[in-house]
Formats: sequence, structure tokens, C-alpha cells
Amino acid sequence: MIKLSLGDITNSTADVIVNAANSALRGGGGVDGAIHRAAGPIIVEECKAWISKNKELPTGKAMMTSAGKLPHKGIIHTVGPMWEGGVANEDQLLAECYINALHIAFENGFSSIAFPNISTGVYGFPKRDAADVAICTVQNFLGSRKEQMKVSFVCFDDENFEIYKSILGED
Ligand code: APR
Repeated sequence: MIKLSLGDITNSTADVIVNAANSALRGGGGVDGAIHRAAGPIIVEECKAWISKNKELPTGKAMMTSAGKLPHKGIIHTVGPMWEGGVANEDQLLAECYINALHIAFENGFSSIAFPNISTGVYGFPKRDAADVAICTVQNFLGSRKEQMKVSFVCFDDENFEIYKSILGED
């Protein structure tokens, strides 16, 4: 089941929220900054420990930390592709972010997950194209599984919200 909302993802009631992180898991602005501020310094420590073992989180991959001070069951960090004009496999890499995050959510037995509009801020992915990839990937993934999962797309800006509304056919 797919849901759409407008707002700050840290207020989502989903079991797990997804962060649009960078490969160094160093925190940043945008949704990454909002999640780190709300979750607190425990997340920074968890990310540092993970990086010291694994070096980096490659683009398209995902990992999970606790949710720190947030009420969620975890935070899934994934690294979206930087837009390079469409010649660097950006669509596929963006799709992998959604797939890998969904895999982690299923593996952990969560029943709901909230996604931000990965790569559509600082990383410059065209919003309409990113929304097409996100929705199509999630629909295909959910269609291929027997288990249910409630997936929320949490848009922060009106432009993304309108795009998602038009693709999902909501009023
Ligand atoms: N809740 C939900 N969505 C948000 C929030 C929030 N609190 N704040 C921003 N957004 C939205 C933006 O409107 C944008 O559509 O998240 C989307 C992704 O934008 P960015 O956060 O800039 O992420 P991205 O484009 O993937 O760039 C990632 O930015 O913050 C750094 O460390 C991060 O280097 C990484 C890069």
C-alpha cells in the first residue's frame, strides 16, 4: 500500500524512516540534517562505527542505524546518485536505493516505511524523473512480495508533492 504526505519525515509514524545520506554518513543539510538533529548524537556514533568498519556506503546501497531519540524502530540510510545529466546510470542507482531500503525493512519485519524524495535536493536529480523511478520501483517491489508493507512518500516541498499526486492519481 502506497501513501503520500507533505511534511517533515521525522514526524512520520512509519516503523522506519529513510535518510538521503552521503557515502561518508557524515550528516549534512536537507533531510539528512533534519533526521540527525531530531535523532541526536547517537546516530553520528553509529554511523562513524559503521564507516570505520566498512569505509563507505556506496551510492545505491543502504544500511540501518537505531533511531536515536526518534520514536521509530530504525533509520535506514541510503545514498542517492548525484545528477550528472542522465549519463551515469542515475535511474538505476536511484531505484537501488528504494529496493535496498525495502529489503532491510522486510528483513527486519517492519510493516511500514517512509521515504523522502531521495536525490531531488542538493544532488539535483530532476524531480519528475525521480518520482517516476521511485513510484515505479516501489510498486514493482511490492507487487513481487507476498507480505504487505505500507510505504509512505513524504514530500517536503510543494513541487514534489504535486508531482507525486499527479503520478499516483490522487486529488
Ligand atoms: N523531511 C522530508 N523531506 C525533506 C526534509 C525533511 N525534513 N528536508 C528536506 N527534504 C527533502 C527535500 O525537499 C528534497 O526533496 O528531501 C529531498 C532530498 O533533498 P536532500 O536532503 O538535499 O538530499 P539529496 O538531494 O539526496 O542530497 C543528499 O545532501 O544533506 C546532504 O548529506 C546529504 O550529501 C547528502 C546530500
